[in-house]
Amino acid sequence: MKHAGAGIAITGSGSAAPVASLDNDQLSQIVETSDEWITARTGIRQRRLANSGGTLAQLATQAAAQAIAMAGLTALDIDLIVLATSTPDDLFGTAGLVQAGLGASRAVAFDLTAACSGFVFGLVTASQFIHTGVYRNVVLIGADVLSRWVDWSDRRTCILFGDAAGAVVLQANERDRLLGFELRSDGTQNHYLNLAYQPQATSLLDGLEIGQGSFHPITMNGQEVYRFAVRRVPEVIEKALFRANLGVEAVDWLLLHQANQRILDAVAQRLNIAPEKVISNLARYGNTSAASIPLALDEVVRQGTVNPGDTIATAGFGAGLTWGAAIFQWGR
Ligand code: UT7
Repeated sequence: MKHAGAGIAITGSGSAAPVASLDNDQLSQIVETSDEWITARTGIRQRRLANSGGTLAQLATQAAAQAIAMAGLTALDIDLIVLATSTPDDLFGTAGLVQAGLGASRAVAFDLTAACSGFVFGLVTASQFIHTGVYRNVVLIGADVLSRWVDWSDRRTCILFGDAAGAVVLQANERDRLLGFELRSDGTQNHYLNLAYQPQATSLLDGLEIGQGSFHPITMNGQEVYRFAVRRVPEVIEKALFRANLGVEAVDWLLLHQANQRILDAVAQRLNIAPEKVISNLARYGNTSAASIPLALDEVVRQGTVNPGDTIATAGFGAGLTWGAAIFQWGR
């Protein structure tokens, strides 16, 4: 891409997931469902769940520390930490806790919320600071603990989600490895997927009423979100490829938000991308929201499946509604 300052490279990755896992058979003891139904409709077989003492900051910090080490940096080299999450430990922001946990005392840190698109939105946001020459070393984390907000009596949603964190390090680089992107939002369809605040009228004084309440569990129209994803994700990837001046044949790996294996398959088919190029680990983790892309990326990087110079088409999609794609090459 054209820019005034430096190019970017993604030079490190890391991930973390809680130890406790819940498989489909165990889930069948909580709601009326079955391993057969969940596997056939989603491809998910188990998910990791944070225990009651587990925090988002712990998972995010662990993932970030691994990514910093892989990049060959120390915490003091980091200029900026962006934490993409919809499930903060603190509504005022959790990135500061991650900064403190890492000892990244030079870094400025903030949260970014774009649900399951959070990692892709964060990747583009973080890249701007490097492109303009303002920062050189950035940690981007996608982390969510959706188990806190799932309605565990709703079998249409509770089967889908899991908890995890993934992180990458972005560095200023001579060559720009972020080749193209496209981000989209459509708030008119916000009602299809919510974790909404529900105010309760509280009277402070005569004639002065404020709304104090809490958040409702996740509600979702699964069929509409499915339709949206299968239609919009191929479109946005094609747009990002166009901006990168690349054809679909240049894509080595398709790395989608890990929502549902049927969505992954349908998007790959529409784009004419071979199944062996589709990265998938949702069978073991479920949908981990903002964490799913960096979690899957870290796995294939550490396995040696994805190598420096490989071209990756990534896309996130979800609540907002939000969706976005980025085309990048792994490594310097
Ligand atoms: O990050 C983005 C987050 N969201 C998504 O990615 C969600 C996208 N949507 C989906 O993945 C799918 O819509 C689901 C997996 C959520 C649902 O699959 P579906 O094929 O769209 O199923 P459905 O909602 O059309 O339900 C089919 C049947 C219904 O029964 P009837 O009305 O046909 O008798 C449901 O009541 O399956 C029933 N059902 C279940 N049965 C067993 C719904 N959930 C379950 C369940 N176990 N967990």
